[in-house]
Amino acid sequence: MELICPICQLPLAQEGRSLRCGRGHSFDVARQGYVNLLPVQQKRSLHPGDTREQVLSRRAFLESGAYTPIVEAVCAAAAGHAGPILDVGCGEGYYAVRVANSIGAELTGLDISKEAVRCAAARYKGHRWVCGTAAHLPIPDDSVGVLMSMFALTMPAEFRRVLKKDGIFIQVLAAQDHLMGLKSIIYPEILLKDKDSVPTLEGFELISSTPVRFEFTAEGEQITNLLSMTPHFWRISMDGAKRLKETTTLTDTASCVVNVYRPV
Ligand SMILES: C[S@@+](CC[C@H](N)C(=O)[O-])C[C@H]1O[C@@H](n2cnc3c(N)ncnc32)[C@H](O)[C@@H]1O
Ligand SMILES: [Zn+2]
Repeated sequence: MELICPICQLPLAQEGRSLRCGRGHSFDVARQGYVNLLPVQQKRSLHPGDTREQVLSRRAFLESGAYTPIVEAVCAAAAGHAGPILDVGCGEGYYAVRVANSIGAELTGLDISKEAVRCAAARYKGHRWVCGTAAHLPIPDDSVGVLMSMFALTMPAEFRRVLKKDGIFIQVLAAQDHLMGLKSIIYPEILLKDKDSVPTLEGFELISSTPVRFEFTAEGEQITNLLSMTPHFWRISMDGAKRLKETTTLTDTASCVVNVYRPV
């Protein structure tokens, strides 16, 4: 799969250690093997996306194997489909690489966090890692076979543009009852907000929606690693953080949905 210039949308070609478009916009390929295609005008903060601490915590938690049932469900959704794969909001690459290996497809992982793609590139060679935004994908029209967004954002118009006509979009969203155990420790009361875990997406038709629900146990540091992967990381109070620190073993339920859409 080609990459396009995030500023003028012309194709990018490799020139030494850079990618360059016909208008002379040039982007360095970092020593670690990822390319930064996030121009300053598309950045909303100096260091957008997940921090290095979050990225490393997520890697440590995911590599414990606690979320293997989610990997299996996403690989099952991708089975029988052809690449190339684009994982938007890929984080440190854990799921993307496993799906790519399972269907034997070429993979591009994209995330707005430079720390995330740096970590992905350092660990997983032989794939392409891009720092960029889901709002302006540096990817040509009609070029992606399997588009994934796992616990990350969905941009229907942009996703529809890059997908091939016979491609699929796999979306994984947390369900209402995801991590109730963790929430009951960190919050004095849990407010259940209405959550649409099977959204209608303009330009797409839902093919299937599969709930994935299982119990897992986290101990010691893995409990704070788990917190770092969630939006609660930003919301937790001092009291909540103290209670979590005192928790040595957490048995909780992971609950998400794997939605598969096709473009119409
Ligand atoms: C909850 S994490 C999920 C990471 C990975 N998909 C996983 O499940 O392990 C959400 C990711 O989306 C990234 N992100 C946030 N805004 C983004 C944007 N506009 N474009 C691309 N990635 C973005 C964050 O940096 C973070 O890595
Ligand atoms: Zn350009």
